[in-house]
Amino acid sequence: MTAPAERVDYDRIATRYDAHRGWDASIPLRALELATGAPLRGIEPAGAILEVGCGTGNMTRWLLGSWPGPVVALDLSRGMLAQARAKFGDARFVRAPADRMPFRARAFEAALGSFFLHHLDGAARMRFFQELRRVLGAARGRRRCGGAAFVTSSHAQIRASYLTRWFPSVAELDCARFPDLDVLREELAEAGFSEIAATEVSRAVPRGGAEYIEKVRGRFISTLELVPEAEWHAGLQAMEAQFAAEGHLGDVSWYATVVHARCEP
Ligand SMILES: C[S@@+](CC[C@H](N)C(=O)[O-])C[C@H]1O[C@@H](n2cnc3c(N)ncnc32)[C@H](O)[C@@H]1O
Repeated sequence: MTAPAERVDYDRIATRYDAHRGWDASIPLRALELATGAPLRGIEPAGAILEVGCGTGNMTRWLLGSWPGPVVALDLSRGMLAQARAKFGDARFVRAPADRMPFRARAFEAALGSFFLHHLDGAARMRFFQELRRVLGAARGRRRCGGAAFVTSSHAQIRASYLTRWFPSVAELDCARFPDLDVLREELAEAGFSEIAATEVSRAVPRGGAEYIEKVRGRFISTLELVPEAEWHAGLQAMEAQFAAEGHLGDVSWYATVVHARCEP
């Protein structure tokens, strides 16, 4: 089983994280569709949905804007939740560990999360998936149970990431932190989920601009907290030099995977 190689202190980095990390609508809404098992248009307002590892609310924002029922968002970090609450007070934010969730059985129609699963080691992830089975239930008036969808990176996507052009150790660091797709499939199956599948999502950026330098300067992904300091400075300088010489950073398209599954009633 994969164990997180190093820990990130989200309380410490919450403000900076929030300033440099954001989503557009497409990936959160695709994850929501995959979690609920239905195109969003025409969906009946039914149960509550749960976001796990919500951080500063990057995904919560889109769930609140599109899901007609209640949205509950859980995270363990006080600092990250403080940022989220300041922006999106209308979600119910809960501070708790994902593998011991303070919710009654069948409280939610669907659950989702982004870039969160890799923070749990194998044993904690299994407890979390079992907890998910407990809190997910069939919406009133529907035969089928809801499901779960998590945005993550496969090892192939990590190795192909544009960031490795400037920060080669990102590949090794993240492959050590992220469970690969076959591991997640096995764990979900063992926890009793069915219809387990992986869907690639992407954002095409054929010519990256200066904003990518700013994102890296702000260490917009937690892995950049773990890259050796000398490599981080050298990579940043190389990005700046490339931008100065060519006026762009080349292809910085981004790929991720939504792992999704259903639970039987
Ligand atoms: C990389 S951030 C992702 C935040 C947000 N989903 C996003 O995409 O911007 C991972 C989040 O998982 C949270 N987290 C880590 N371990 C957790 C646990 N055991 N229970 C609940 N949340 C946890 C962290 O506090 C952090 O906010």
